[in-house]
Order: sequence, then C-alpha cells, then structure tokens
Amino acid sequence: MTARRTPAMGFVACAMIAWSACGGGPAPSSPTPVPPVSDAGSLKATGSGKLVGTAIQAGFLSDARYRAVLDREFNYITAEYQMKWDAIETSPGVRDFSAGDAIVAYADSQGARVKGHTLIWHGSVPSWVGGLSAADLRIAFESHIRAVAGHYRGRLLAWDVVNEAVADDGSGLRDTVFRQKLGDGYIADAFRLAHEADPQALLFYNDYGGEDMGAKSNRIYDLVKGLQAQGVPVDGVGLQMHISANGRPSDASISANMARLASLGLLVNISEMDVRINNVAGSTQARLDAQKSAYHDIVRLCVMEPKCHAVTFWGFTDAHTWIVGDTPLLYDAQYVRKPAYFGVLDALSGR
Ligand code: XIL
Repeated sequence: MTARRTPAMGFVACAMIAWSACGGGPAPSSPTPVPPVSDAGSLKATGSGKLVGTAIQAGFLSDARYRAVLDREFNYITAEYQMKWDAIETSPGVRDFSAGDAIVAYADSQGARVKGHTLIWHGSVPSWVGGLSAADLRIAFESHIRAVAGHYRGRLLAWDVVNEAVADDGSGLRDTVFRQKLGDGYIADAFRLAHEADPQALLFYNDYGGEDMGAKSNRIYDLVKGLQAQGVPVDGVGLQMHISANGRPSDASISANMARLASLGLLVNISEMDVRINNVAGSTQARLDAQKSAYHDIVRLCVMEPKCHAVTFWGFTDAHTWIVGDTPLLYDAQYVRKPAYFGVLDALSGR
C-alpha cells in the first residue's frame, strides 16, 4: 500500500494535472459553501450536491429514535436486504414485496430517493434456485429481474443490478451459479433486462475491494468498459467501501480509480460505507479519531469528484450494523453522533 496522503495532497495532485483527468467535469471554483448554522445538524442539508444515503430495514421504521435520525440526515435510501432475491421470492414464483414497498413508501413520504439493491448477487440466491438446470435458471433469472425491476418501475432512482461478480483476486469473474450455468454474458443480460423493465433507473455495477487502484478494480474497469463497448446500458459503478480505519486504501488511489471510471462517462457511488476500528491501536479516542479521518477523507473524495453522485452508509447507528463486534457507523448505539459523524458533516460541507 502506498503512503497515506492527506486529501489536500490529493486535490493538489488533481489540480496539477488537467482537472478533467480527475473527473471529467469543470474545475470547481471553490469548495462547497459552508451551510447555515441551522443546517449544521443534517448531512442532507449541507448543500454538497451529493445524495446522502443509508441502508435501512423496514422493521425499524416504527422505532422513534431510529426514525428521528433517518428523517433528519438522509435523502437516499437503500434496502439493506429486503429487496434481495432470497428475501422476495422464498418459493418459486411467489413474491413478497411488502418490506421493499414499505421502504419505498417511507422514502416517498420524505422526498428521498431509493436505490434498489440488488438484482443479481451470489449472496442472495434463494435456496430453490441452486438446484435448477441451466435452462430453468435462465427462466428464473429473467423472470426475477423483469418482475422485481418491473414492480418498482419509475419509482427508483437507481438499481444495483449486479453485485460482486468479480473474483477477489481480480483474475476474472467470480465462479457463481450464474456464471456456471448462464455463462459470462449473464452480466450484460442482467443490465439489458433491468433497463427494459425500468428504463428510467440508473443501473450500477456494485462491488467491494475495488475501491482503489489494483487488480480487482482493474478487472471491474475492464468489465464496465467492455459492457459499454457492447452497448449494454450501464450507468455507474458502486464502490462499497467496507473498510477498516487501520490500513484503509489511500485517498490518492481511490480518487484515481474514481477518475478513471468517470472518464468512461460513468457515475460513481460510495455505496455501502462503514469503517471498522477495533484493530486501531491506542485509546478509544484514538480509534474514534481514526474513524473520523477515514470517513472525512473518503467522503471528501466523492465531494470533489463531479461524477460521484452519492455516498451511502451501510446503516447509521452501531445499534444496527451487519459488522459483528465492531462499531463502524456514524452514530453510536444510543443514537449519539460520533466523531465520524462530524467528519462526514465537514466533508459534505466542503471543509
Ligand atoms: C449484507 C446485509 O447487511 C446483511 O443484513 C445481510 O444479511 C447480508 O448482506 N455487500 C453487499 C450487501 O452488497 O448487500 C451486504 O449486506 C454487505 C456486503
């Protein structure tokens, strides 16, 4: 890993080469203005120009403490798992959209947008799908995408169409049931089907471990470039950003990766950010400070990249996180803002 750089150094590097190489858009004249004091307690009110998102679960929407933070902070909502294939279609052909519908209704009531997550992922394959023949999997795959993307047609801003399809070492595609039975073309097929079912939705490829420059992000870059060359409707790439404050990818490397995706004309998302701190040495305060820096510096990379349109956190309170035994989110388990929160607030405010 290269030496860590401060965001300021990264931005100087961007300014020294053509700004277009750092994002393809016009050079920002100055950082995003600092918000009025009355907005200082709301991430979505910072005027960052970026959607500020969180993953949620429908069951928590009736919890007043959860709702108070959710309503105040976020304008982009993702279902943590309730729009995944195994959550919707536990038995073949019988689909339950109730939880996903509750999430979309909540977002609509708040004027927030929704990103559907996720149509095709090896981690959310219903058990009955595993035993299908190739021909039957093809039918189930197509009907799943048509039914789910069609159900939400016109109501979602975006979909994570294919999730985590690249092998961890970047050597090629992950060896999933889809690849084995449908062939490598399943990725292009998924995007085409999703576009037919919901032509207005922005369609993303989403993955982890390809946030910075490296073998995996090279493969993701080649994948989306290849899709574009085939005329496949792909609009962007999600960088999941499940990281540890200790040993996080360097700012310069993340921003270079964002810039090369942007240079393809693609949008970029930080799509599932959380920052583990248990392995940071020192005091509790040192851990919280390291977490704050990671959140600040990385969210600032999105703020500075014109093609980065959203930052989504994978939850917001340590009371509800998929990371067992750590405290990776912006609010503690008692819904008190952590230093990390103020790091994000600063970054979104242009500081
Ligand atoms: C996780 C959810 O947080 C869990 O609740 C669920 O049981 C498993 O999936 N990458 C992704 C997300 O794209 O869908 C995963 O979410 C976390 C890793």
